[in-house]
Amino acid sequence: MLVSAKEMLQKAKAGHYAVGQFNINNLEWTKSILLTAQECQSPVILGVSEGAGKYMTGYKTVVGMVNGMIEELGITVPVALHLDHGSFEHCYKCIEAGFSSVMFDGSHYPIEENIAKTKQLVADCAAKGISLEAEVGSIGGEEDGVVGAGECADPNECKMIADLGIDFLAAGIGNIHGKYPANWKGLSFETLDAIQQLTGDMPLVLHGGTGIPADMIKKAIDLGVSKINVNTECQLSFADATRKYIEAGKDLEGKGFDPRKLLAPGAEAIKATVKEKMELFGSVGKA
Ligand code: 13P
Repeated sequence: MLVSAKEMLQKAKAGHYAVGQFNINNLEWTKSILLTAQECQSPVILGVSEGAGKYMTGYKTVVGMVNGMIEELGITVPVALHLDHGSFEHCYKCIEAGFSSVMFDGSHYPIEENIAKTKQLVADCAAKGISLEAEVGSIGGEEDGVVGAGECADPNECKMIADLGIDFLAAGIGNIHGKYPANWKGLSFETLDAIQQLTGDMPLVLHGGTGIPADMIKKAIDLGVSKINVNTECQLSFADATRKYIEAGKDLEGKGFDPRKLLAPGAEAIKATVKEKMELFGSVGKA
């Protein structure tokens, strides 16, 4: 059964570790992530962008697939199904379809409008036991058409949004979706520290987890980050393993073209990446 991400992230914040949000694209992604979470006895958040939701034919399909898999694979660790960077309208579509968690990304609105829309969602999510993530300060780079400038959030605006009753807060601290450029200045720990001081117990979310060096991840967790989003890194591992399989001519040997064989190395590579992240984030054994 799906659970809200509220409790798992409160526990993570209190226990000084972070829960990974791994974005899903299809059955292979979902299965690899769920099996790894179970093997590691780690709570997990499955992230779905609006683009990935559309690709998988709609949110109802996603809910059906994830619920079915949890049951058929005997997954017992806490699993949250979360809309990633949702618009106001899509948050309601996901609530309706059976998601257990949503992110409203109002970071591109003036702060007053971000507050008004977040406030409405706080009330509607609370009534249904669904957890809500809000965002202040856009995340740089591009993810499924969501483009951000990569500014650092204003800690006072973070406090204003946190006080509305959301469950966890994403704040821009120089993080970027996708690969980091060679001249990246790193995370702004000064901003993160100021945000955590003003928002207290609120679990903070670090987007753009791909390519952030391990020491920065550890420091971010020390400064209150309890949820870390990883998307591109699983895509890169999958693509790399698939390319190697084809370059080695394995699809031409026997029934190597069978999709269950062709996609297997990529699925295994996703498992390895997810396990590595769960170990780094400290969520292993915390289910
Ligand atoms: P990456 O693709 O950089 O790992 O970012 C994932 C993310 O933040 C999802 O919202």
